[in-house]
Amino acid sequence: MQKNKNKTEVILKIEDLTVEYFSKKGKKRAVNRFSLTIKEGECVGLVGESGCGKSTLANAIMGFVPFSSGKICLKGNQLPLKKQTQVREHYTNVQMIFQNINESMNLRQSVFDYIAEPLRNLKKCRGNDLDRQVGKLLEITGLPQAYGGRYPAQISGGEKQRVVIAKALAVQPKLIICDEPTSALDVSVQALVIELLRKMQKDQQMAYLFISHDLPLVSYLCSRIVVMYDGEVVEIIPNVDLMTELKHPYSQDLLEATFSKQSDERIVKKQIQYHELQSNGCQYYPYCELAIGICNESRPQLKKIGEGHEIACHRYGGKHE
Ligand SMILES: Nc1ncnc2c1ncn2[C@@H]1O[C@H](COP(=O)(O)OP(=O)(O)OP(=O)(O)O)[C@@H](O)[C@H]1O
Ligand code: SF4
Ligand SMILES: [Mg+2]
Repeated sequence: MQKNKNKTEVILKIEDLTVEYFSKKGKKRAVNRFSLTIKEGECVGLVGESGCGKSTLANAIMGFVPFSSGKICLKGNQLPLKKQTQVREHYTNVQMIFQNINESMNLRQSVFDYIAEPLRNLKKCRGNDLDRQVGKLLEITGLPQAYGGRYPAQISGGEKQRVVIAKALAVQPKLIICDEPTSALDVSVQALVIELLRKMQKDQQMAYLFISHDLPLVSYLCSRIVVMYDGEVVEIIPNVDLMTELKHPYSQDLLEATFSKQSDERIVKKQIQYHELQSNGCQYYPYCELAIGICNESRPQLKKIGEGHEIACHRYGGKHE
């Protein structure tokens, strides 16, 4: 995907977003005071371990989960969407490729009808025009025209993901959120799908929010990378050289885990009893080898430490360096 886009128009602005889930067990804050902007044509990667809130953030942008506080504004439309015209505009501007392809497709809906859905609903496209547009989408995603008549059970996992991509492209959105779009696929098919996404972004000049726990993949695709830990942004970095530039202790551990392919060993790195933890301290304090006293007393805020590089850590950009 294009790494040096100069366009300046901000299409997505998220400010201080907090999303909470409520259940009998209590409240779970899945996204906490999260801020991010994405510009037209930009490809931003969002990385973080399982359960850190990536899909919740994506679903909040899509308007699928409500948020407790903060702001989400996409191309001038502020969420929650109130009018039908806003809803239509929103889903014309943003589409999502879901983490679980099998859940995102309806087993009883043909490939044609699945891809045609946003064209029918959002663009009021019908008849020959609809046939032509769906045909074109099948073509650009590398699927034979005859696949329009097939059902999900009659196509492979890689083909399903192509169909899902075709649907996301149908209304030519300004932003596509890709939530681990290849995680359910065979390794051999993953590369094909990634190349397809790359080509689509280049040809159609869309912005991407590319969610993954795979740092090398995100580094390959994106011009800027956001590292998320326990619902919060801990580092934002331009994609220059991740190996030397990623600074936050959590980002470093993520990078190390990626290359060593080891299981998560952070929990045993530092044995701290939870009763010793201050709720207003750094979230990463229990696992951090660079921790100092202040880390357990005050939550670090994002600070700029270089061009486009921000970090939330007491050990960078302040008097505790
Ligand atoms: N509907 C829900 N109700 C209650 N808690 C939820 C719900 N959905 C997610 N959560 C919790 O919110 C947190 C964030 O979940 P989320 O699915 O956003 O993580 P994720 O980063 O996408 O993880 P993964 O990489 O495994 O997909 C997790 O602790 C999860 O258990
Ligand atoms: S603020 Fe302290 S505990 Fe948190 S990541 Fe930085 S050094 Fe580690
Ligand atoms: Mg997820």
